[in-house]
Amino acid sequence: MNYNSTSIILSSSRLLFRQHIPEDINAYCTMEMDTDVRRYVGGQPRSREDAQQRFTSALQPVTDRLGMWATVLKEDSQYIGRCGIYPHFNHDGSTVPEEGTLAFYIARPYWGQGFATEAGQAFIEFGFNELKLKRIVAHVQAGNEASVHILKKLGFELKSTEVAHRTFYHFQLKNPVT
Ligand SMILES: CC(C)(COP(=O)(O)OP(=O)(O)OC[C@H]1O[C@@H](n2cnc3c(N)ncnc32)[C@H](O)[C@@H]1OP(=O)(O)O)[C@@H](O)C(=O)NCCC(=O)NCCS
Repeated sequence: MNYNSTSIILSSSRLLFRQHIPEDINAYCTMEMDTDVRRYVGGQPRSREDAQQRFTSALQPVTDRLGMWATVLKEDSQYIGRCGIYPHFNHDGSTVPEEGTLAFYIARPYWGQGFATEAGQAFIEFGFNELKLKRIVAHVQAGNEASVHILKKLGFELKSTEVAHRTFYHFQLKNPVT
């Protein structure tokens, strides 16, 4: 794979988190076209064309270290998803200073092996210790029980529930030090 150590932002015991590279396109698109992966994030699987279009955005450099990172297995460099903390956006598109949003997307063949939990823990430590965030939030569509379970396990608390066309749970975790 064509990346070097400078593109790696973070690592955990089994995972590396790095910038996306062109070689990730097939694994990325396969995830975006997977009905199971998309069930609670958008609802519909993407077409190949749409997924490829979005991959172009994923290739853009992440600013301020707030963004979604290619998530790869250390043992064989396999791309298994994308995880990270991106800015906490208000409804008007502005960002909340000193806050971030945790998200994780793992490819279907790798579910149930603790990878999202491991990534979540790594990014919480990164967000609080390196980025000095005061609060990390996470948004989960109702029904996504695995995500709810993981967030609770990571220490998040339910802040509010937004009932609309799709119902969302808004979770938060405050930096214990600030
Ligand atoms: C949600 C997702 C990230 C989980 O990834 P994963 O690597 O399989 O997660 P983990 O293996 O770390 O943990 C899954 C946990 O959920 C639990 N779980 C799975 N299905 C569950 C369900 N229906 N109800 C309750 N808990 C469930 C597992 O038992 C496990 O908990 P445990 O380790 O305490 O036993 C993955 O399924 C995914 O990418 N889904 C599609 C995208 C998505 O929904 N992202 C989250 C957006 S908020």
